[in-house]
Amino acid sequence: MVPTQSLLLPLFGGTAAAANLYAAHYSGTLNHLAFNGTSLTLVSSEKTGQTLPSWITYDAAGKALYVPDENFLDPASNAVLVSYSVGANGALTKKGNATTPRGGVATVLYGGKDGRGFIANAHYEAAQVSTYKLPLSDSRPLQTLNYTLDGPGAVPDRQEAPHPHQVLVDPTGDFLLVPDLGSDKIHINKIDKKTGKLTECPPAKTFYGAGPRHAAFWSPSCSKSRVASGKGTVLFVANELSNTVTGWTVSYPYGGCLELTQTQIITPYKGNSSAPAGASLGEIRVQGNYLYTSNRADQSFKPYDSLTQYNIAANGSIAWADLTSAYGLLPRSFELNKAGNYVAIGGQTSDNVAIVKRDTRTGKLGPLAANITVTGPSSGEGNPIGLNTVIWAE
Ligand SMILES: *[C@@H]1O[C@H](CO)[C@@H](O)[C@H](O)[C@H]1NC(C)=O
Ligand SMILES: *[C@@H]1O[C@H](CO)[C@@H](O)[C@H](O)[C@H]1NC(C)=O
Ligand SMILES: *[C@@H]1O[C@H](CO)[C@@H](O)[C@H](O)[C@H]1NC(C)=O
Ligand SMILES: *[C@@H]1O[C@H](CO)[C@@H](O)[C@H](O)[C@H]1NC(C)=O
Ligand SMILES: *[C@@H]1O[C@H](CO)[C@@H](O)[C@H](O)[C@H]1NC(C)=O
Ligand SMILES: *[C@@H]1O[C@H](CO)[C@@H](O)[C@H](O)[C@H]1NC(C)=O
Repeated sequence: MVPTQSLLLPLFGGTAAAANLYAAHYSGTLNHLAFNGTSLTLVSSEKTGQTLPSWITYDAAGKALYVPDENFLDPASNAVLVSYSVGANGALTKKGNATTPRGGVATVLYGGKDGRGFIANAHYEAAQVSTYKLPLSDSRPLQTLNYTLDGPGAVPDRQEAPHPHQVLVDPTGDFLLVPDLGSDKIHINKIDKKTGKLTECPPAKTFYGAGPRHAAFWSPSCSKSRVASGKGTVLFVANELSNTVTGWTVSYPYGGCLELTQTQIITPYKGNSSAPAGASLGEIRVQGNYLYTSNRADQSFKPYDSLTQYNIAANGSIAWADLTSAYGLLPRSFELNKAGNYVAIGGQTSDNVAIVKRDTRTGKLGPLAANITVTGPSSGEGNPIGLNTVIWAE
């Protein structure tokens, strides 16, 4: 689908710039990294002014990025969503901010004329989703969705309350989904693109104790019209608490809500075997007809954890393909570059970003291409520590 080597040859042909990456760290920093094909360097590291910067949403067209704040320990203090503009060579300038509910763990752009008119935030701790009109300027929320739970789930210490863990937009741009780890639900909202208002649709119920964390859409072939109609689209969900990946067919009844129907449950391990004790699924990504998950604390490549590759069939079913090293500990975050020839992996407790080569034809993840350590002091007792996010700025 994507021509092999399309990104790095022009970039690394001897002349121009390296690829820019950004990494967020719970010590309170946003880090700018550069990768030139052989080595990864730290260009800058700055304090965001937040308690726990927890995620990065990159807006390539708008040359901006957004960082939510997971601050949750002090009920009296709020969390702050910040925006930066991205200048020449990837340099960052702080722009706006908004006070949000606590426990921000993920953001996504949605709505407006170009899909970038508004931003939604998943708040794990506060059991809420909040939305803001862009650009941010000391903004008040446009809307706050509050979730409630009737009773604890199968994993009472993690499912004592709703825990929205991500917000993502479907390929048509008309629906915003919210995997909710605490409720074993995927909330579905219809987007009013003009006003940014979300209208709640009936949620999809996962199996009991699934613990949905993150999800990614796949659409058959690259045809724009098929993506626009949504035909054949599948949602793949990384279920943290059950260490499973579920496939859901996506349908769009005329004039109605997006609907999900679960079709498959598999584990990240060969032969559908169970995860080692203590392991938990992290991130999930689709590239072409390949799906990947990161497997935290599974120690499959001692001392490191792992990533799983799954092949996606034409009908949208997945099959386990390979398990490879994450070259770090607790790979909470990873992202493939657009050309698909490299994967950046963020090791949370190893405080590193590892870049691994990828074969664009087979989807196989190969050897380590570069590695860097990004450390910082922990921001206080009880707070999470380490590097939580890495993204390519493309
Ligand atoms: C990448 O950077 C490293 C370290 O600065 C340097 O040794 C190497 O020659 C560079 N590689 C390319 C392809 O520019
Ligand atoms: C938010 O914006 C206000 C006003 O511009 C500024 O004083 C404050 O430092 C900003 N906070 C953060 C965390 O960026
Ligand atoms: C959600 O809760 C917040 C308080 O945390 C409140 O301001 C808001 O009105 C609530 N939203 C709805 C739709 O009830
Ligand atoms: C794979 O494992 C999952 C989780 O244990 C189970 O629900 C599913 O039925 C298994 N699938 C097959 C094909 O055995
Ligand atoms: C989807 O395709 C795969 C691989 O060709 C096949 O094994 C599976 O049975 C198919 N599933 C359905 C529901 O047709
Ligand atoms: C990455 O580099 C750090 C030192 O900078 C080292 O401690 C760590 O073991 C390296 N990781 C890998 C996977 O090579």
